[in-house]
Amino acid sequence: MAESLREHLVAYFEEHHTLVEAGALQLLLSNHQPLLLSRELVEHRVEGSPFVTVEMVERALALRAPPRPSTPADLRSSARPQDVRVEVPFELIREGFIGPPVASDPLAAYTALFQSRYRSLARLLRGRPELPNLRPISGLRAPDGPASIIGLVREVRTTPKRHHLLVTLDDESGSIDVLLPHDSPAARMTFLSDEVVGLRLQFSREPGKIPRAVAVERPDIPAVRPVGRAGRRRRAIFLSDLHIGSRSFLAESWGHLVDFLHGHGPRAEIAAEIDHVVVAGDLVDGIGIYPQQERDLAIADVVEQYAELGRRLSELPERMTIVVVPGNHDAVCPAEPQPALPTGLRSSFPPNVHSLANPSTFALQGVVVEAYHGRSFDDLIPAIPGASYSRPTEVMKRMLAMRHLAPIYGDRTPLAPLPRDGLVIDPAPDILVTGHSHTYGVDRYRGVLLLNASTWQAETEYQRMRNISPVPARAAVVDLSTLDLVTLDFSTGDPKPAGPAG
Ligand SMILES: [Fe+2]
Ligand SMILES: [Fe+2]
Repeated sequence: MAESLREHLVAYFEEHHTLVEAGALQLLLSNHQPLLLSRELVEHRVEGSPFVTVEMVERALALRAPPRPSTPADLRSSARPQDVRVEVPFELIREGFIGPPVASDPLAAYTALFQSRYRSLARLLRGRPELPNLRPISGLRAPDGPASIIGLVREVRTTPKRHHLLVTLDDESGSIDVLLPHDSPAARMTFLSDEVVGLRLQFSREPGKIPRAVAVERPDIPAVRPVGRAGRRRRAIFLSDLHIGSRSFLAESWGHLVDFLHGHGPRAEIAAEIDHVVVAGDLVDGIGIYPQQERDLAIADVVEQYAELGRRLSELPERMTIVVVPGNHDAVCPAEPQPALPTGLRSSFPPNVHSLANPSTFALQGVVVEAYHGRSFDDLIPAIPGASYSRPTEVMKRMLAMRHLAPIYGDRTPLAPLPRDGLVIDPAPDILVTGHSHTYGVDRYRGVLLLNASTWQAETEYQRMRNISPVPARAAVVDLSTLDLVTLDFSTGDPKPAGPAG
């Protein structure tokens, strides 16, 4: 574990063009929140300084000053050169939501959001050999030869006659139109509005001609990266879309899940290794979410729905850490990132529940999990040719390539104008889990395990109308030491391993 976490931290700093001193790394590894501290060091690093020193780590530790017996000096003296790491079962790394918008003028607030997005993603793209001679857009000069830019996609059009792609991009210095000839490989890619891409450009010798993009570079997950692995075999189970309060809540299947987790019946040996439960949103069915929803509700009061959720969560073994994030049916502001549930609504939750924002990044036994409900599927699926609700993991791959969960502004997913873009995917996770589609999907992309967790709600009239066929009562059980996975189907009292698709 110590080794794999060490590699993980080095790779994280490397991706952010930061070098970490050996002593500083040692200090981080001996702390109980190494991933959180590393993120803070990268984010609050003095601009221009490529180093993380022992002093910087000590300062960060002093600032946190938790009521713990250890001071930085104690940690250093007690840190043995090898195997200093005590495996922490749960470490919160970041919540997407960071408090309400500060700017009162919405235009200024959204400008700050997009600036934050641009800066976070440009930071990942800068310095790559694929983007030589990187220039601010306003600094491009036509006869200079090849040059590269990093831009936020503002508009994508197709030219009427030749069907070339014409993309308008902005950076902090200006904007530019770039042509992608219809027969070039780059033109076969889909560009989504408000995603951040790097482009290598070729200028024509003729003055006034639009530059051509000859290569496209996305922030993406590094092709080679160490994967955080737990040092011993413990497991996590991934669920989503409980929709407590709906008439279609699958109480019987939930009962089978509860029995299984308590070790009753078959596959008790797997259940005994499960320490964590993650629920990726739509915890309750809510009220007034879609037309005439009241006909589908068994509990018509939202406070009562959360009280029932508390009872359901209390049925799970107390020893398990339960992480929940809200979704679009939950009683928080629908704009994303969504805050965690207000305290009033979680008063009935058992003490082993961590109620977090949507999205949130946390580590389970050192394995980095990004949990996002998945509302942006509603925008990304229509925008990406060939994408569908039945294969949500294909869209999740695209999220990782963009390093963003919900880039499109002004469509079905409302974006909260926060000063920091909490939908940027950073750090790169080991597991990305979503829900919302009510289907079930498992895939892998560049070492990241993709899970679209299933639902505990049967098909509703509204879904039938919209042609959504749910795949309910499946759960992914992941071995955190290997990232191997078993899918269990809880439709019956004998949870059977099931295929990911059906
Ligand atoms: Fe849902
Ligand atoms: Fe949803």
